[in-house]
Amino acid sequence: MLKSLIPYQDYLQKVDDKIKEWTDCSTKTTKIATQHLLQAGGKRIRPLLLILSAKSFGFQQKEQDKIISIAAAVEMLHMATLTHDDIVDDTEERRGQKSIKEKWGEGGAVLIGDYMFVRAFNKFVEHGSKTLVKEASSMTYKMCDGELEQLFSEDDFDMTEDDYYDIIHKKTALFFKFCCQAGAMVAGADKKSIKIMGDYGLNIGMAFQIRDDMLDLAGKKENTGKPLVSDLKEGIITLPLFYLLKQETHAASKAKELLEKGKENKPTRENLNILQSLIIEHGGISYAQKQAENFARSAILALEGLEITNAGQEKSNALSILREIAEYIIEREQ
Ligand code: IPE
Ligand code: IPE
Ligand code: MG
Ligand code: MG
Repeated sequence: MLKSLIPYQDYLQKVDDKIKEWTDCSTKTTKIATQHLLQAGGKRIRPLLLILSAKSFGFQQKEQDKIISIAAAVEMLHMATLTHDDIVDDTEERRGQKSIKEKWGEGGAVLIGDYMFVRAFNKFVEHGSKTLVKEASSMTYKMCDGELEQLFSEDDFDMTEDDYYDIIHKKTALFFKFCCQAGAMVAGADKKSIKIMGDYGLNIGMAFQIRDDMLDLAGKKENTGKPLVSDLKEGIITLPLFYLLKQETHAASKAKELLEKGKENKPTRENLNILQSLIIEHGGISYAQKQAENFARSAILALEGLEITNAGQEKSNALSILREIAEYIIEREQ
């Protein structure tokens, strides 16, 4: 990841340790499954955003345990969503190894995901304010709504680009918004600053999911740790495909024809490869990249609205890393 994040590795280690500590007293399966996902890697971008946002408003050393606990709950919540998402999307690999559903079966993954969800909320209640818990719960039900909307619009080629933005707003961007706002809140930021951090988080969250959807088509499995072209396989329509479909070209008609064919029995590997090439060759990736860049730009712009007085070295350092993260998100390969 970014060089400037090296001093933050210690915080992220504490986040991992916290999650380990919480699951140590659980049943063997819960413990092993959590470890399985934790040790496999992952970017830890959500806890990191929370910690950096808190640092931007100068959190006190005495609040460190509280921040680390909330950041650990955030990562645990994220791990729950990944565990369930891999059942929904029928994904066999996650973070470069077997997904939870592949290793413990769908039933096991439902329960392990449930455990992680509830444990995360249990920790939000223990360490966060009533407002924080309220924000966390409304973000999470909207995330479920977004995942549901996506599931029930699979193979719906009449879906619009705005529908896509609405789905990724709910399923991904609101979580990023929550992390940035929660960090600012815990560090005692004022209302206006909390709102600005929310705008920043929302925009990088949109950029993050667009980039994820691009990597599914044009990334490398050894970098993402996830199977490629899995969205097309599941009939999930993402931005690069939208771009191709909305053109009135031969390539667009060919893609529609192949997609229609794949509706009954998932598309064949050969047709998936053709669709993937059509999307890439006809500008789908470049279009999505431009949209991701627009969101990243809006995120950086949002931060300019902050009126931080007497910013010490630590505060301005954290803020400049947040700006760097907006740039990293649209270039990331992982
Ligand atoms: C994956 O999130 C789910 C999306 C919202 C795209 P990450 O890309 O943050 O996954 P990890 O935590 O690094 O594995
Ligand atoms: C998942 O989006 C977002 C969640 C709410 C977990 P994706 O389905 O694109 O995430 P990956 O590609 O499986 O990580
Ligand atoms: Mg998925
Ligand atoms: Mg994806």
